[in-house]
Amino acid sequence: MDDFKHYTVMLNEAVDALDCQDGKIYVDCTLGGGGHSELILKRIQPNGRLIAFDIDDEAIAHSKERLKGYKNLTIIKSSYTNIKSELSKLGIEKITGGVILDLGASYHQLTKQERGFSFSKDAPLDMR
Ligand SMILES: C[S@@+](CC[C@H](N)C(=O)[O-])C[C@H]1O[C@@H](n2cnc3c(N)ncnc32)[C@H](O)[C@@H]1O
Repeated sequence: MDDFKHYTVMLNEAVDALDCQDGKIYVDCTLGGGGHSELILKRIQPNGRLIAFDIDDEAIAHSKERLKGYKNLTIIKSSYTNIKSELSKLGIEKITGGVILDLGASYHQLTKQERGFSFSKDAPLDMR
């Protein structure tokens, strides 16, 4: 297992609000560690579909491994701001289920020394 750590916030509350149903299309705009995506996937079996976006290679690698057992997941490395064009490439013109955005950064991104966000470790800060 990799060292990616993130504790999903308001997991049940957020996914309950989506009212997940089998056969519908859902979008997780911020895949991260895959916590929300995994619960959505459990609730939309067997014929629902989940498209998940992230721009972070480590988050995507971790979640790909975590969710590899789910056939109805498509992970896209792109900003959710490209949602319309990316879904259109997949032939999806309408999101029939719902969309979730868990905005911000993952615990992993904030605490990993080399990434330049940590204020608890002695490392160069990335001030961009
Ligand atoms: C708070 S985390 C999401 C955690 C996730 N819900 C979970 O359960 O593990 C936010 C994620 O949004 C991603 N992110 C930030 N800006 C983004 C953007 N413009 N498009 C897609 N993902 C983005 C970050 O890379 C990070 O992985």
